[in-house]
Amino acid sequence: MNNFLDLHTTDATDLRGIIDQAQSMKTARKGQLKGTPDADQPLANHMVALIFEKPSTRTRVSFDVGVRQMGGQTLVLSGSEMQLGHGESIADTARVLSRYVDMIMIRTFEESILHELAEYADVPVINGLTNSSHPCQIMADVMTYEEHRGPIKGKKVVWTGDGNNTCTSLIHAAGQFGFDLTFAGPQSLDPDPEAIKFARSKGVVVTIERNAEKAVLGADLLVADTWVSMHDSQSTRQRRHNQLKSYQVNDALLDQAKDDALFMHCLPAHREEEVTSSVMDGPKSVIFDEAENRLHAQKAIMRWCLGV
Ligand code: CP
Ligand code: NVA
Repeated sequence: MNNFLDLHTTDATDLRGIIDQAQSMKTARKGQLKGTPDADQPLANHMVALIFEKPSTRTRVSFDVGVRQMGGQTLVLSGSEMQLGHGESIADTARVLSRYVDMIMIRTFEESILHELAEYADVPVINGLTNSSHPCQIMADVMTYEEHRGPIKGKKVVWTGDGNNTCTSLIHAAGQFGFDLTFAGPQSLDPDPEAIKFARSKGVVVTIERNAEKAVLGADLLVADTWVSMHDSQSTRQRRHNQLKSYQVNDALLDQAKDDALFMHCLPAHREEEVTSSVMDGPKSVIFDEAENRLHAQKAIMRWCLGV
């Protein structure tokens, strides 16, 4: 039994194996209707709880569909409707749920909630986003890059905007998959220094660059995310926009990257804010492949967690 909590705490060889399995499962399904079950049913007789303490479209649907394709069943639970949202402890919730279900995916607030759940649960726990990380997203991103352009190892990836939860997982992935990472954003929104330390300890180059045009020179991949995350106070919106407007991914910025550079965004996007529609809908954008690959990557993550 494995927990999938964060990219820097998961073995790099296992992460590579998950991506490879995701790709082969995707290939095996080619041309089938989306509701078609996978030929082998590795999650048959498995019940998976999907807990959401924040909104979600992709994570919710891709986990639910992924479990069903593999022959399992899901319970989609909203944190606010559980006793969890009304004072029951995480530890007790973990112990109770472990008596009913075979695996738990949770989208929550503090990373400590995820870790407490994993500590007290007897079943695998998967991180479906916290305030500090979004590892399932980045597994899909690595898969998507490699599907289009081959190995990500040695490539230059540029993150523009807020050094947020998704950015942290991307920096962890830089260390684990061996790509260089440039962060382009203002100092006040710099990414987690511990994540940077981790990636550098693995021998990759992590660069902080305040000038977006300079940052994207020679980039193989540009990645953006919302400027205001779900856990951020909405009162920061105007200030964030003023701080981040020079980091918008538009055609002029993308033109500074390599000719074959790709653009990714975990979605949901705010068109004409962090990215223009011309980039999102343009030839270098792979955002919908990226969204699709959440399904395939997470199916492989769940198999790895359960060892099936
Ligand atoms: N990218 C992502 O996690 O999307 P949702 O918030 O819709 O799940
Ligand atoms: N950084 C964003 C990602 C959403 C999928 C957030 O946490 O709101």
